[in-house]
Amino acid sequence: MLGAHDSHEPDARRRAAEAAEAHEQGLAARREERRRRGAFYTPPALVEWVLDRALDGLAPGAPVLDPACGAGHFLVAAARRVGVAAVHGSDLDADAVRIARERLAAEDPTVPAEQIAAQVVVADGLEAWAGRRFAAVVGNPPFLGQLRRRTAGQSEASRRGLGAYTDTSAVFLHRSLDLVEDGGVVAMVQPLSVLAARDAGPVRAAVTGKGAVVDFWCSPEPVFEGTPVLTCVPVVRVGRRPVSVPATDPDGWGTLAAPAFGIPAVHLPDGAGAVGDLATCTADFRDQYYGLVPFVRDDPSGTPLVTSGLIDPAESRWGRAPTRFARRGYDVPSVDLAALRADGTLAAWADARLVPKLLVASQGRVVEAVVDEAGAWLPSVPVLSVVPHDPADLWRLLAVTLAPPVVAHAAARYLGTGLTPGSVKVSARQLAALPLPTDPAAWAEGAELARQAQHAAAADRPALLAATARVMTTAYVGTDESLAWWTDRLTTPSRRGAPS
Ligand SMILES: C[S@@+](CC[C@H](N)C(=O)[O-])C[C@H]1O[C@@H](n2cnc3c(N)ncnc32)[C@H](O)[C@@H]1O
Repeated sequence: MLGAHDSHEPDARRRAAEAAEAHEQGLAARREERRRRGAFYTPPALVEWVLDRALDGLAPGAPVLDPACGAGHFLVAAARRVGVAAVHGSDLDADAVRIARERLAAEDPTVPAEQIAAQVVVADGLEAWAGRRFAAVVGNPPFLGQLRRRTAGQSEASRRGLGAYTDTSAVFLHRSLDLVEDGGVVAMVQPLSVLAARDAGPVRAAVTGKGAVVDFWCSPEPVFEGTPVLTCVPVVRVGRRPVSVPATDPDGWGTLAAPAFGIPAVHLPDGAGAVGDLATCTADFRDQYYGLVPFVRDDPSGTPLVTSGLIDPAESRWGRAPTRFARRGYDVPSVDLAALRADGTLAAWADARLVPKLLVASQGRVVEAVVDEAGAWLPSVPVLSVVPHDPADLWRLLAVTLAPPVVAHAAARYLGTGLTPGSVKVSARQLAALPLPTDPAAWAEGAELARQAQHAAAADRPALLAATARVMTTAYVGTDESLAWWTDRLTTPSRRGAPS
């Protein structure tokens, strides 16, 4: 894989490339160390894709930086374009830095070793290079989520005004924006979660404030050997803004990746308000989850406890399908309400939830919601509750969740936040932000069809759901391809991965 570009390359280059490969294999064998360092090296085709964009039009000698350069995959490939004397790198792993230097020396033996040693250094990439400016900053910085990130990244994140949970990779992206000259490019591999993760919001805002995403790569399959993490590369041009830039929504970049995941583009009308205007959307958390445990039994006479897995579009399978709650299987999970009220802790919570509402599964192939008309069910974490200000809106709200343009919009906008990238995940806040339709007559018809779908016998429900989806597509945008996409997803078996 390494050095495959030229079968006649000098021995020194081949040996250096072999050393890099041996270093990676060594890291791959020491899995814990690799994970701790975030050292998963970039496939050559992706390196070339990044450099095609980041170094496009750069003259030889234009300075390029990879602040977490590992054994130098980006540096060696960049050196072949701008020259060894122009590439700079840093990494905390001294062995990797030594190999990167050797590989660069092998690329161009006329560049003195001391010069290469000054350009490629053992250092924290978040702290080194202060005051320097490069034509391009590229690379594949470490992905270290909150649990594994205890070192430099964290203090750097807080120093930069980023939240403590910001992934190190996003901190590197943020830092790199300050290291390029006006008109320069930052192109760094990121976990797909950078698209929509709340903690990456300030980083996306900084990108939009200082420049623009001018190109974008992502894959619906993992491309890094040894990790299932999905990745993307936003190519950011800092400073002057080319006219052709697609507008990027700082609240989420998911729409950039939507085409790679087969999610159709929808342009929802705005101005008709949002779900949050009609209802209060709430999520429950640990307190409710653990608080309920002592009161949950397998008993058809109790107050039904509805889990995510029991919610299908316009349908609750409570009592007809087994489910899990708190690591136990149940056929008819229910809450002993009298005992819960006597205990007191969750009494007010239960009263607030036992009202007419919609229950929405936290994630699914489509948005899955069901109406609790009588207000007789309790949600199990992470089910969301949507309580309308006016109970007359229950079916209209259900119809909104069954509208393919809304689901496609949510799928794109919040891509990368679900447990599996194929699933649509919405939080309570995002549910409240879903737009309402602009055609009241079609919406009213959709609401009636949704009501019929929920009350229908199982055999009749698919046709009624399809009719609801058709009408609700009209209620938003006339016709578009989201209807076919939604129908396909509805009829494809879901992979239920949500915790119960
Ligand atoms: C995913 S690897 C990528 C290496 C290289 N960009 C490539 O694609 O070949 C991430 C690298 O970041 C290094 N690293 C982790 N934390 C770092 C930090 N704070 N500063 C510099 N490098 C760091 C690791 O040692 C590892 O070599």
